[in-house]
Amino acid sequence: MAFIFVSNLVEMNLYEKLLLDNKKWAAAQLEKDPGYFERLVHLQTPEVLWIGCSDSRVPANQITGTEPGEIFVHRNVANLVINTDVNLLSVLDFAVNHLKVKHVIVCGHYGCGGVNAAMTKKDFKPVLNMWLRSIKDVYRLHRQELDEIKNHLQRSDRLVELNVKEQVFNLAKTSIIQTAWQDEYRPDLHGWVYSLKNGIIKPVFEMQAGTELDPLYKYDDL
Ligand code: CO
Repeated sequence: MAFIFVSNLVEMNLYEKLLLDNKKWAAAQLEKDPGYFERLVHLQTPEVLWIGCSDSRVPANQITGTEPGEIFVHRNVANLVINTDVNLLSVLDFAVNHLKVKHVIVCGHYGCGGVNAAMTKKDFKPVLNMWLRSIKDVYRLHRQELDEIKNHLQRSDRLVELNVKEQVFNLAKTSIIQTAWQDEYRPDLHGWVYSLKNGIIKPVFEMQAGTELDPLYKYDDL
């Protein structure tokens, strides 16, 4: 029982530390800029929607040097755009149709645990298997190119890039994006990959607003 008590205590300390650090942060913000919170309360006009990986090492604001209020963020395991994901689609709808963002960025990262997991045959149990399955589909679409890469790390890096590209295609397949392209000629779609090793983002794919789509996915009665 003593062990449980100690482990609870450690947990308490961590969450208390987060609240304490929050107070310090708020005070420091006010000291730097007394109008900071007052301004943000009345302002949410981000021009960018960020769809990133949930990985704790890839925080959108920090790695792009942006402030609260500048980027609208959605994150999930391996930055996937799944056409039945109500959470993702609600964020996309709100960002595109209400916030009127000019850019949607899908940002993956090399060494992504979700991508690496999808490259194995390991059973991660139903829910994760279901989620990771769409990365296996990306692999299948690009199997020839990927199978030719013998080095496992390089193959994983390339799959991360191809995954980002496919997620950008998935965005363009939605009627949300197609309607915005038709009516307002925005947003541009970007596929980026972040390197955990040097902190640099590599742009790997881009679709300007209005890019011609595969007719299979194009709606003509929007
Ligand atoms: Co990841």
